[in-house]
Amino acid sequence: MSTTRRQIFCAGIAISTTSLINASMASILTPKTTAGPFYPNMEIPEIDADLTRIAGRAGTALGDIVDLSGRLLNQNGVPVKNGRIEIWQCDVNGRYRHTSERSNETIDRNFQGFGFTNTSSLGEYYFRTIKPIAYPGRAPHIHFKVLLPDRGKLVTQLYIENDKRNKSDSLYNRLTEEQIARSVTRFEPSTDGLFKAKYDLVIQQ
Ligand SMILES: [Fe+2]
Repeated sequence: MSTTRRQIFCAGIAISTTSLINASMASILTPKTTAGPFYPNMEIPEIDADLTRIAGRAGTALGDIVDLSGRLLNQNGVPVKNGRIEIWQCDVNGRYRHTSERSNETIDRNFQGFGFTNTSSLGEYYFRTIKPIAYPGRAPHIHFKVLLPDRGKLVTQLYIENDKRNKSDSLYNRLTEEQIARSVTRFEPSTDGLFKAKYDLVIQQ
């Protein structure tokens, strides 16, 4: 085989292997996990997709501000439109918006703690929030709930990829390697001063 033909042949193998990995990963569903004890039950002055600002307040949430976006897909990679996506997470001081929470830390009144949006015709969603925070017993995470009319729901948690605190988180440690790949993403600083994070959710449909 000539060098050129060998290179093309080898490139073909590389492409097919990559495609196979992508194809097999594409069908891995986002794992279902517990909602935890702190799904918000307190009145929140404003509920929208920007958790870092509250109408009528001049301040901005403390923490690293993140543009968090992604798509809602089914197991075949087809976008799922009109899905309701909720997120909730603690503020920079580890406080949730829940009456059963016991903490002496100050609540960041400029952080919503909860938000929702609906996926577009391309299955896309977008939130502005803060980079997730660790609190006693838990690695940094953001809770997600996906609600589809008449088709049930998915509750899951998103972690920071390669965060050293993940290994000591009991919920994270219950995940398989494939499920971890579906439950983590990078939070990378950007030139506009915000962090960017991409996270696709894959549901059975
Ligand atoms: Fe939590």
